[in-house]
Amino acid sequence: MAREKWSSRIAFIVAAIGSAIGFGNIWRFPNLAFKHGGGAFFIPYILALFIIGIPILILEITIGQFYQTGDAGAFGFINKRFRGIGLASVLTSFMVTSYYSVLLAWVLRMFVYSCQGSDGRWANVAPSEGFQWFLSTVTGLEDSLTPSRIVGPNVGALAIVWVVIFLCIGIGIKWTGRIAYFTVGLPVLLLFVLLIRAVTLDGSSEGIKQYIGEWDVSVLSDQPEVWSEAVSQVFFSLSVTFGVMTAYSSYNKRNSPVFSNSLIIAFSNSLYSIIAGFAVFGTVGYLAQKENVSLDDKEFRKLIGGPALVFGAYPVALSTLPGGGHWERLLFVALFLLGIDSGFSLVEGFVTVLHDTYLFQNAKRWMITAVVSLFGFLVGLIYCTDTGLIFLDSADFYINFMMLLVGLFECFSVGWIYGIEGQIQKLGVFPVIGYMIATFASVALASGLWFGSESNEVRNGFLGLIILYLVLMAGVLWWCRQKKNSGVIEMTWKELLTELLMGNMLQFRRELVGVVRYIPLLWFFLIRHLVPQLLLILFANLAASENEKGTGSKFGHYLSYPTGYQAFGISIFGCTCFVIAVGLLFPKCYSCFSINTIEDEENTEEDENVRDLGNVEQGDGIGQAFSRNVHV
Ligand code: PHE
Repeated sequence: MAREKWSSRIAFIVAAIGSAIGFGNIWRFPNLAFKHGGGAFFIPYILALFIIGIPILILEITIGQFYQTGDAGAFGFINKRFRGIGLASVLTSFMVTSYYSVLLAWVLRMFVYSCQGSDGRWANVAPSEGFQWFLSTVTGLEDSLTPSRIVGPNVGALAIVWVVIFLCIGIGIKWTGRIAYFTVGLPVLLLFVLLIRAVTLDGSSEGIKQYIGEWDVSVLSDQPEVWSEAVSQVFFSLSVTFGVMTAYSSYNKRNSPVFSNSLIIAFSNSLYSIIAGFAVFGTVGYLAQKENVSLDDKEFRKLIGGPALVFGAYPVALSTLPGGGHWERLLFVALFLLGIDSGFSLVEGFVTVLHDTYLFQNAKRWMITAVVSLFGFLVGLIYCTDTGLIFLDSADFYINFMMLLVGLFECFSVGWIYGIEGQIQKLGVFPVIGYMIATFASVALASGLWFGSESNEVRNGFLGLIILYLVLMAGVLWWCRQKKNSGVIEMTWKELLTELLMGNMLQFRRELVGVVRYIPLLWFFLIRHLVPQLLLILFANLAASENEKGTGSKFGHYLSYPTGYQAFGISIFGCTCFVIAVGLLFPKCYSCFSINTIEDEENTEEDENVRDLGNVEQGDGIGQAFSRNVHV
């Protein structure tokens, strides 16, 4: 049976934009900018977007489209030991869905509240009271941090959210594409309405000035975690490292232009974030003026960070406008639509992986979706307890580690493992593995020196990096020289170095060319020589960053929440590591996740050939064989 396809290229782009644009754009992004030196945050954000985010987005869209399967299958093609990365990413996405759906449930409840009374729910309420009310009435959070009960209405709202998710993706990808036009189009319109309203309010310019007008660049060195936060934000917002983009692009025609698609998705997403910032902080500036407080006021700043913003300050501010009730409703409708397409894309990543396996190849898509939805709902009950918000915040924080780790492994597998057999054949094991160790060991040593000690040994870190790299590389080159002299390697130095530095990537490029259209050479370079190394450094940076109270590293002491919450977050992270490790050590454990058949509808005359390949164990150069058999 031919693989289902999006009805058009635009349908894919719109659905991918829908996945990318979500709560992350409207409260995470502006909030980060506000917290980290206003406009100065744009520096790490833009760098992270261009150097890391967009390359990984291209990576995911490429492999999904090229191999025509979800994350587990696609990484299985690269190397069967790396199938665990695909599994880890969809597992991460499942964990995110389980709390993302609860956020949607809260939005739903807030919408219902906003419909009570013609003036809306928040008329004549102070911003602090607004958020407090949300905490106690909607989430159920009281003073104690020990979970004691399940909040019934949240369970009901969560069930509704899961039914909607099920309906959006259970039927098929064509239907999902059609729904996405609506869930993307309407929030864009609504954003412009909110934006125009915001910038025409008194005091809005003050808010906007704080958001973008003040460039406190000192935060870039004083708060080094701003760099890893920027990368995490870019990952979360672009929906990469969750298997979502791979799943979506696996329903593309194989010759859809990957590069331009990725740029359109990434730019639309960032544009939305930046514009949302104006709408949010214009309104916040107005609220500050109305309340007669300064935007620098510590207490007030607490009310405009994270959930307090959308569930407290924002509706309160809107309620003071003429026709306030309608504005509140508009906000929650926009939020729900923004979030729902991100929610169902997360589930789609999971469903695609399952549906493509031997295990579930004959199961109906709607059945798989129904079972996944049921599980998602059940796991989501944790966040429907009275301390659900704290669970949610903990999970959301530890997800940052998973994103960096999964991103690192994704780039490592494509940049360093793909085609490694060919390199070893030409050069021998020692130089290929030696070069890999020289690269990563020196970066790991430098990260240890930079972030492992109290005194932040910047100079020693660089020294360590350079010395270790040079020593190991000298060993590698000396070995190559011996082999060259003895005639074992018959290549010129130029050929030898090209093979060592970029051989596998050039091979990958040859495989892709003519299939997924143009991808610049720079991308191949970045995926091998910059992105995985940077992610390793950022991972160490995040792991070592101090918590707010200075009582230890954030890892294990996030916001000084009680140990149970830290354990909860760490165990989620532990699961990801475990899934990756099992795949690396015992690849056979995941053979049930290999894909059922490989075929392409544009390839009918060669179907026999291709189907034969489906029986070959993945990861044995089958990717190369596959592409040779498919001419598009
Ligand atoms: N990108 C979405 C947002 O910004 C969240 C999301 C993450 C969706 C991961 C899919 C995958 O809110």
